[in-house]
Amino acid sequence: MEHFAYRHSDLCCEQVSLRSLAADVGTPAYVYSKAALLEGYRGYDDAFADVPHVVCYSVKANANLGVLGTLARAGAGADIVSGGELFRALRAGFPPGKIIFSGVGKTRDELRDALKAEILMFNVESLGELRALDEIAREMGVRAPVALRVNPDVDPETHPYIATGLKTSKFGIPFAQALEAYAEAASLKGVEVVGADIHIGSQLTRTSPLADAVARVAALVKTLRERSVEVRVVDVGGGLGIRYRKDEAPPTHRDYARVLLPVLRELGVTVLLEPGRSIVGNAGVLLTRVLYRKDTGDKKFVVVDAAMNDLIRPALYDAYHEIQPVAEARLGAPAETVDVVGPICESGDFLAKDRALARTEEGDLLAVMSAGAYGSAMASNYNTRPRAVEVLVDGNRYTIVRRRETYEDLVAGETVL
Ligand code: LLP
Repeated sequence: MEHFAYRHSDLCCEQVSLRSLAADVGTPAYVYSKAALLEGYRGYDDAFADVPHVVCYSVKANANLGVLGTLARAGAGADIVSGGELFRALRAGFPPGKIIFSGVGKTRDELRDALKAEILMFNVESLGELRALDEIAREMGVRAPVALRVNPDVDPETHPYIATGLKTSKFGIPFAQALEAYAEAASLKGVEVVGADIHIGSQLTRTSPLADAVARVAALVKTLRERSVEVRVVDVGGGLGIRYRKDEAPPTHRDYARVLLPVLRELGVTVLLEPGRSIVGNAGVLLTRVLYRKDTGDKKFVVVDAAMNDLIRPALYDAYHEIQPVAEARLGAPAETVDVVGPICESGDFLAKDRALARTEEGDLLAVMSAGAYGSAMASNYNTRPRAVEVLVDGNRYTIVRRRETYEDLVAGETVL
């Protein structure tokens, strides 16, 4: 996270001090580095430069229009999973010809809207979906470009909630049924088979499960070609892990490409990628202020103004996010073991548990690191808390890319009887 570093005694995002930012926009606040975002995207674009490819940023990781627009302008495509994400992707300026539609439960309205928009490809996850898409496309007098998402049954070795490539998961068409499904797809007038798709899970910290999965899909593509089903696109999904703890060393873009490219190059396909976390995760922090300290005798708590509604990952996945003081001088304070907790009325509302932190005082600013992915995207209004402001920093300037919600925003659409 070198775009977040101490300069002139304060933690900065690029050249903007998080202290001055907090004074301007308040806390809690999500702060993103434009340079980090672009670096994440270009890492993939460069690593796959010698094959035809599109890096389709997975919108679910962070769907803010400021983030999306930045990536769209840089040349990225988009991986969407809902009509809402289609709307955002188009609004942000992604060319429809670079949008792919994944997801296990696309509704007929969503399929129709995506067909109307003329997107690049549908990643179909069941025969039911395939038949619905065929019917809608024929009604509209078009052909839907389709990849089947196959479930390669490999263990991605990640948190069970975000593992998707095992045959016990709801995702994809079971590998054993793939040939039959392709035969049906090839017979339908409303769809055109163009590709094969996998996505085995998220926060992958080893490349070997990916290597296994891509080997399986390559074997499938070869068999399909023998049967005259021409697959010219392989979508390898997303999932590359990021560093959350200082001592972690997840695979780099290059490591990732080194595992996948030999197989994909031999197939002679266009490669689609769906990375989310590895583009935006370490490009963002959640900035929060310490409200109170509490020492119960058994435990010390640092109560901050951000909560599980802003960042649910610790509560939901027991995820670890580094926490850094904004004031560099605080790093010299004696360490103490604390829980960093929010104002929400649940004991599950914590950002860090039993964490050794340099002692912080009431009023201090803290940065919860690696919060760019699945932070604001999974935020809620629980406890009627307005969602945080989001800021995109570019050099020494910043733009508010989402204003803080107001109480009026929260009740808009509701009725008092
Ligand atoms: N493609 C598909 C089909 C996916 O389901 C996902 C993520 C991605 C791409 C992007 O994966 P990434 O590159 O971001 O790992 N909320 C969880 C992560 C859920 C991931 C869901 N699918 C978390 O905070 O860890």
